[in-house]
Amino acid sequence: MSTTVQPHAAAALKQKIADKTALVGIVGLGYVGLPLVRAFEAAGFRTIGYDVDPSKVASLAMGRSFIKHIPSDWIARCVEQGTFEPTADMNRLDEADAVLICVPTPLSDSRDPDLTYVEKTTAAVAESLRPGQLVVLESTTYPGTTRDVMLPILARTGLKPGEDFFLAYSPEREDPGNPDFSADRIPKVVGGLEPNSLELAVDLYRHAVVEVIPVTSCEVAEACKIIENTYRSVNIAMVNELKMLFDRIGIDVWEVINAAKTKPFGYQAFYPGPGLGGHCIPIDPFYLSWVARKHGMPTRFIELAGEINTGMPRYVIARLMEALNEHGKPLRGSEICVLGLAYKRDVDDTRESPSFELMEQLLAAGAAVTYSDPHVPKLPKKRDYDFSGMESQELTPEFLGSLDAVLIATDHEAFDYETIVRHAPLVLDPRNATRDVTEGREKIYKA
Ligand SMILES: NC(=O)c1ccc[n+]([C@@H]2O[C@H](COP(=O)([O-])OP(=O)(O)OC[C@H]3O[C@@H](n4cnc5c(N)ncnc54)[C@H](O)[C@@H]3O)[C@@H](O)[C@H]2O)c1
Repeated sequence: MSTTVQPHAAAALKQKIADKTALVGIVGLGYVGLPLVRAFEAAGFRTIGYDVDPSKVASLAMGRSFIKHIPSDWIARCVEQGTFEPTADMNRLDEADAVLICVPTPLSDSRDPDLTYVEKTTAAVAESLRPGQLVVLESTTYPGTTRDVMLPILARTGLKPGEDFFLAYSPEREDPGNPDFSADRIPKVVGGLEPNSLELAVDLYRHAVVEVIPVTSCEVAEACKIIENTYRSVNIAMVNELKMLFDRIGIDVWEVINAAKTKPFGYQAFYPGPGLGGHCIPIDPFYLSWVARKHGMPTRFIELAGEINTGMPRYVIARLMEALNEHGKPLRGSEICVLGLAYKRDVDDTRESPSFELMEQLLAAGAAVTYSDPHVPKLPKKRDYDFSGMESQELTPEFLGSLDAVLIATDHEAFDYETIVRHAPLVLDPRNATRDVTEGREKIYKA
């Protein structure tokens, strides 16, 4: 990118970024924020991490990670060397030359965007905004948030965007637990409020990630993230619907997908499951449908995909009832162990996990429910469900033999599927996790 920045504040920040003396502040030290700290620290920047949760800050300050794929010894080393300083003191936001915001963007109870975290953080940044600061929103949101929600809050300071301070949007594409793509290896899309903001944000990220893709506006960058997640949601819904059809006509959907994905172009494999989970796919498309409603446009794909995906737990429970029925048992009174509480394989994140919905429906039907998840030893209290206090069961032959069925909600690698099938009387497998099991296949029911 050419050197076009004009005002003094921009030129000074550009220089600090170029010689890596810029202090990079990351707000929100969660699944997205911490990997980002890591990427900038590894690139040679000093970083400061802000979080409103004092227990997280205290844990980091003691060199302890609370995210499985971010090692504690790395945090301890950075804290000791002073390349990463965690703090809960938002009055120190003016110390950072770049403020990268990674706070939650959930849905409200009425499934509308809840931007309270973004608004509060922006207000905290505005409190001490000074000339020469670059503010970048990384949280997933609908197109227009940076300009329509953040800019007015920052502009109330009297400082001028593009001259005194700089504002950009760059969506986080973190894939927790994916060993092939850590934050620094994922190309980053960046949109700026105006040319100076874009140039400074691109300069900064170029140091830390493998590739930066500048786009012409914050809105394009915001829409880019939403299109990626909507694409996943719609394709997963399609394959979930086809799974139900194929089940009915006796075709194994997994075999079909494995065959289809041999096509070297024009097809990308998506896999069915017991429902959608995680912080992104079940939530983000609804940010877009909310904007669409404001513009009087229906988003039928999004709504339909949401409907199909949220209906999957009910389908899985119906399949479990059929399977138990074949064994002469009702669901009421049966002992069912749900395997995997995290929303996807080999992670410890239970946000929006369909396992909770499955457990809820099992309990409502009168089943006795336990769970096993090596990554989630004890259940946290959730906003929608309260299973707090439940503990993960060890899958011993005796325990498995005492059950009426196991339900594989999440296909963690740590599970020993041969042992599970050998000792459990019935295995419901909506993930095709037992595909390589050789003995006792008559006990496996796909769903
Ligand atoms: N987790 C993912 O895989 C993923 C992937 C891509 C994008 N995203 C998006 O990134 C954003 C953050 O997600 P996450 O998974 O890291 O969430 P998280 O809950 O793991 O982390 C968010 C952190 O922000 C802190 N926080 C909340 N309000 C704050 C405030 N006002 N000031 C400072 N800190 C505050 C919380 O205490 C928490 O530690 C969301 O918009 C999400 O949609 C997440």
